[in-house]
Amino acid sequence: MRHESPSTGNGSLFPADHDESRHVPGIARVGGYRKRPAGNNRIVPEGEFAPEKIDNRPVAHIRLSTDVTVKKDSLFSHVLKRRTNRETYEIRDIPEVAFRDTEASVATYPIRLGCVGMNEPDLLHTHRAIAAEAWRIEMVTSRTIMESYRLLSIGPDEIAKYRDGILLNKPLIRLLVATGLFDRSRVPGPDDSGIKNQIEDFNVKLDKTPAFFWMITEGNDRKTPVKAGRAYARAQLSATKHGSSMQPISQALQECPEQAKPYSETHQLLDAPAPRYTVQMWARLGYAPVIGPSPRRGLAEHIIKA
Ligand SMILES: Cc1cc2nc3c(=O)[nH]c(=O)nc-3n(C[C@H](O)[C@H](O)[C@H](O)COP(=O)(O)O)c2cc1C
Repeated sequence: MRHESPSTGNGSLFPADHDESRHVPGIARVGGYRKRPAGNNRIVPEGEFAPEKIDNRPVAHIRLSTDVTVKKDSLFSHVLKRRTNRETYEIRDIPEVAFRDTEASVATYPIRLGCVGMNEPDLLHTHRAIAAEAWRIEMVTSRTIMESYRLLSIGPDEIAKYRDGILLNKPLIRLLVATGLFDRSRVPGPDDSGIKNQIEDFNVKLDKTPAFFWMITEGNDRKTPVKAGRAYARAQLSATKHGSSMQPISQALQECPEQAKPYSETHQLLDAPAPRYTVQMWARLGYAPVIGPSPRRGLAEHIIKA
């Protein structure tokens, strides 16, 4: 299986005029909410940010109200089952009909979707190899590994306390922390067994990944990743509907010097030359064991009272 969303016939892979007014946020739309009158819900309502960093202006103005006349999208019933699944996937192909349905679920978004599966073994192997190398680089680069260490929550107490970041709850890692054999404040050495294990574990998962999924946009102004995020939410719900799971893998998509090679290989592989195109999402796709939901910090922690 190798599928890509077709060209629109305007010489571009994207609809000529993407009509922002047709969109309400992905999840809100599937849930039966109406946004307030057109023009009042806007991304970057007080103007675009500078390319490299944002400032104190709002990212978006959104007001949602319940409207019983808005029919719930069929994807809504999968919201509570959707997970980022980091487990080992079954070696079983994703049927074409599932990808076509996912494609249809994001048809109004200015995005090119693609998917490769087991009937393209060479291509699949290339996806696995780039992902493995990008992960290895992430694991052996002091800056990135220390960034991950700072976000680690290990064991039930830390997970319950922080409820975000990178959550680890396997008995071995808890034992290593408890016995002082794993010190998160120090850069691991080149022969660190924990790092070697993480590289090896992910290699096994990649070798058993039956499909990869991607989403590409033309351009990458501030609104584009937001639309890509909405589209990804819908695509992942569609995958959930078809009983499959996804895990985004972002290492090769980072614009940092260490990842320059996997970055360029990914863009070449997906026929998305930078800077014209941006790979917004690259994910493992397959059938996975059932897992529980990620912990959430809760709405109250995200609300700033004016
Ligand atoms: C843009 C983007 C990039 C992500 N990159 C990764 C990644 O590289 N590895 C990973 O395991 N999860 C990745 N995720 C998944 C998030 O970590 C995940 O959504 C979060 O842990 C919440 O879990 P949930 O999706 O199960 O609710 C990414 C998600 C997004 C939206």
